[in-house]
Amino acid sequence: MEDSPVAGSLPAEIDVSRPQTARMYDYYLGGKNHFAADRELAEKLLASVPSARTAARENRAFMGRAVRFLAGQAGIRQFLDIGTGLPTTNSVHEVAQAIAPAARVVYVDNDPLVLAHARALLSSAPEGRTAYIHADLRDPTAIVSNPAVREVLDFDQPVALMLVAILHFIPDKDHPAEIIANLLGALPSGSYLVASHGTHEHDRAGFAVGQQAYQSSGVTARARDSGDFAELAFSGLQLVPPGVVLVSEWRPDNPSPRPSPAEVGIYGGVARKP
Ligand SMILES: C[S@@+](CC[C@H](N)C(=O)[O-])C[C@H]1O[C@@H](n2cnc3c(N)ncnc32)[C@H](O)[C@@H]1O
Repeated sequence: MEDSPVAGSLPAEIDVSRPQTARMYDYYLGGKNHFAADRELAEKLLASVPSARTAARENRAFMGRAVRFLAGQAGIRQFLDIGTGLPTTNSVHEVAQAIAPAARVVYVDNDPLVLAHARALLSSAPEGRTAYIHADLRDPTAIVSNPAVREVLDFDQPVALMLVAILHFIPDKDHPAEIIANLLGALPSGSYLVASHGTHEHDRAGFAVGQQAYQSSGVTARARDSGDFAELAFSGLQLVPPGVVLVSEWRPDNPSPRPSPAEVGIYGGVARKP
């Protein structure tokens, strides 16, 4: 990211020598916020799994459609987006506030570079609010009790919890089900969960290569199949049709041909807390 807008003023805790998932994802999406180490690993992965870019774009598009559904049809006005990623097009507040200008959004990520770019996420419509906190999904209590979160979001009103393309970075030993239960436990009935998750179901060899590449750089990625993902994320919730499907198949905007399941490799779903 020698070319990044904040390259000259990087906080000391940003380690540019090791690849980071947020910056690799940004690279796949065609963004500008990545360093040589990120590009190197991303390219290594693309050499074995050329569809990684397609997967990233399909995932991002799913997130946009899910937010449009929530802000529109479901009438949701508050969003808690954990694992935000680097600012790119169609951030949650942009999509939600285009439908409901008063929508309030709190962004959460644990990558210091996302924090360095957070100002771009705070361009709220005057009627709404946005905030950013630097926190880790593995400490959900710290997130829901954070004063900035409590100031922007009213926990007596429904909130859409967004865990989009982050749960596959939480191995079983970090108790992802308990993390989700803890977060949802803080939200009232009528709240929603939006989640997506990488799978190896349609391309085991490709995922294994990707997983190994991530692992060699200290990033743990864990695939889950659709059944495991559905159970982990949506147990006890009411899934919105069409349920847990490949992200490309979740309420597509038009009937044009979509990439193959192996190219997409990410499941997604939206569910309501009863
Ligand atoms: C693949 S990006 C997804 C970005 C966005 N949610 C989307 O789907 O377009 C994953 C993001 O999760 C963040 N992340 C990974 N593990 C995390 C953790 N334990 N706590 C908070 N953020 C985390 C990464 O820094 C990265 O920004």
